[in-house]
Amino acid sequence: MTSLQAVGILGTGSRVPDKIVTNFDLEKRLDTSDEWIRSRTGIGARRIAADNEATSDLAIGAAKAALENAGTTVDQIDLIIVATCTPDHFFPATAAIVQEAIGAVRCAAFDINAVCSGFSYALEVGASMVRAGYRRALVIGADVMSRTVNWEDRSTCVLFGDAAGAAVLGPVDEGGILGSVLGADGSGAPLLYMPAGGYREPNTPEGIEAHRNCMVMNGREVYKFAVQIMGEAAVEALTKCGLTSDDVALFIPHQANIRIIESAAKRLGLCSDRVFVNLQDYGNTSAASIPLALDEASRQGRIKIGDIVVTVGFGAGLTWGANVIRWTR
Ligand code: ACO
Repeated sequence: MTSLQAVGILGTGSRVPDKIVTNFDLEKRLDTSDEWIRSRTGIGARRIAADNEATSDLAIGAAKAALENAGTTVDQIDLIIVATCTPDHFFPATAAIVQEAIGAVRCAAFDINAVCSGFSYALEVGASMVRAGYRRALVIGADVMSRTVNWEDRSTCVLFGDAAGAAVLGPVDEGGILGSVLGADGSGAPLLYMPAGGYREPNTPEGIEAHRNCMVMNGREVYKFAVQIMGEAAVEALTKCGLTSDDVALFIPHQANIRIIESAAKRLGLCSDRVFVNLQDYGNTSAASIPLALDEASRQGRIKIGDIVVTVGFGAGLTWGANVIRWTR
């Protein structure tokens, strides 16, 4: 039996908008407080894209940083995947816009939408395609969630921020992405969705007035789902790879809420120094959350060659995904 080609992360990069909006800034225009937001979510600030900044702008910045970090030139890239639920346009794909901007001439380029689980999905799809013969893949998670929320709805708008993170995938001698678990439960779609703006319910002036073009979320139900699925998906992915949580050097969860992260870490028996958290600075950046955290963790020296890193995402759909990675660089 021939063994599968090992595929690893050769480099990472990220990009966040310049504008920082703190909880104190929000206090000035909403019936909320730094104390409420921090104690319920762990979030202290978020980055917000400028009016002329779109998902592709952040994705391009993250892509360039990841290529540089990986020591990879664009002519080595055969594939670009952008995970996003806030594309620049319905079409073309945001990945095609990134491709043109970085000059990755003629390589394959497409988007994936699994909302906050998007990067977990994109990593598995990208790794599979590299195993199938594509030389190197640029996998990006990028979202401008600030455009999806109703800024008068304190129960959602305080949670989100804008960002992009990217990883270059390529063949490695051993280790790399050891295994993934991806899943979805469409029965949970009504728990987190945008009613209008697609082709079932196009935007109208009345709909926009009623904020039907903005995110609707049942926070408590999403919370319950997240607490359950984070631990489950991580354990399932580790088991698939013949590993246990004792083997995990760093757990990189989707950065939605510190209480969800702490409960998943407890379930896995991980102490806080084996859990990466940066949501205090960025909030929930959807598909960018995991690659942004991965990039920061790597640049801060929190991951060593040979370490087992586990990432877990969850989001609208409902969707989830976990990736087990033996760090190779
Ligand atoms: N400031 C002050 N008070 C607030 C705020 C706010 N920003 N938001 C809500 N409240 C109030 C509510 O109105 C409510 O008041 P009431 O009791 O008078 O009605 C009270 O606080 C409690 O509200 P809850 O919703 O019960 O608060 P909870 O402790 O559940 O926290 C939260 C809410 C933080 C949203 C939590 O449910 C959560 O994190 N859920 C998961 C959300 C999530 O992760 N979503 C992202 C999924 S990823 C994706 O795909 C986009």
